[in-house]
Amino acid sequence: MSKTKDSKTAKASTSKKKASAKKTPKGTPPKKPVSKHRYTAATADKYELYQLAVQSADTDVEFLTETYEALNGRKPKHLREDFCGTALICADWVCRGEDRTAEGYDLDPEPLEWGKQHNMKKVHKKQAEDRLDLYLEDARAPGRKAPDVRIAQNFSYWLFMERAELLEYFKLAQDSLAEDGIFVIDLYGGTEATEEMLEERKIEGGFTYVWDQHEYFPGTAEFFCNIHFKFRDGTELNNAFQYHWRVWGMAELKDLLLEAGFSSCESYFEGDDEDDPEEGNGIFEPDPKGENCESWIGYLVSQK
Ligand SMILES: C[S@@+](CC[C@H](N)C(=O)[O-])C[C@H]1O[C@@H](n2cnc3c(N)ncnc32)[C@H](O)[C@@H]1O
Repeated sequence: MSKTKDSKTAKASTSKKKASAKKTPKGTPPKKPVSKHRYTAATADKYELYQLAVQSADTDVEFLTETYEALNGRKPKHLREDFCGTALICADWVCRGEDRTAEGYDLDPEPLEWGKQHNMKKVHKKQAEDRLDLYLEDARAPGRKAPDVRIAQNFSYWLFMERAELLEYFKLAQDSLAEDGIFVIDLYGGTEATEEMLEERKIEGGFTYVWDQHEYFPGTAEFFCNIHFKFRDGTELNNAFQYHWRVWGMAELKDLLLEAGFSSCESYFEGDDEDDPEEGNGIFEPDPKGENCESWIGYLVSQK
């Protein structure tokens, strides 16, 4: 069977992106008519577009919470998000309970500042700002509090090009966890995963997300990828985000995680849609082998 599940960075909508079903409460005045060309290259905000096209923090946080709970019989409290960018996941995490805290780490001040400006509204609403700390620091920096759940999402750890470098990061992650803590990373693969190709996806709200698997070198597994955005008025934002990665395979990652000292490392793959087994159902479950789809997303969940 050749299932074309959408991988997350490349093509988030099927498995990771939930359509938001906002209802207008009774008595709400009608909205101002939305401009036909709401987004255009001159005014579009690349972080807003990225979050809309690529991220689905609510789904991520649900998965992390349920997975920790299934393994430990209680809910997690403290999250550490490495490579946190705009800290969307941290923000969602702390809004889900007064006992929840989070810390995010990123080396780039720009997305961190953007996140503080744009993702903190609901955090303030829940008076959760004291429970969320963001640090302009390397993902390998020591943390302030042992996390129940530590994550590296959207394949960010693929920027570690050398085995020794990645192993060192995994060792630091293992050592940092609280008792019963879990370290969760995502990855994608499949027969199309390293093909040089462009893939477009229309995003609700009026723009097109373009995932550009630009150049792959099999000798080093180096992968150059870009994200572009196209707008209804014909304008484009090219190379809004650019990545230079090494593609790491699931089996070699499992070996590395166990070598780093984790007591277990389990792969999670998406289940089949009931009506169309060629599609994913958005539910990730433990599955040691997976299925050889054209494109799949998986998680690796490692226990301290
Ligand atoms: C692909 S983005 C991921 C953003 C977000 N976590 C997500 O899930 O979409 C990768 C982020 O890693 C950050 N970064 C790169 N190298 C880093 C390092 N050594 N330590 C911490 N952050 C780093 C970049 O600044 C960027 O914001």
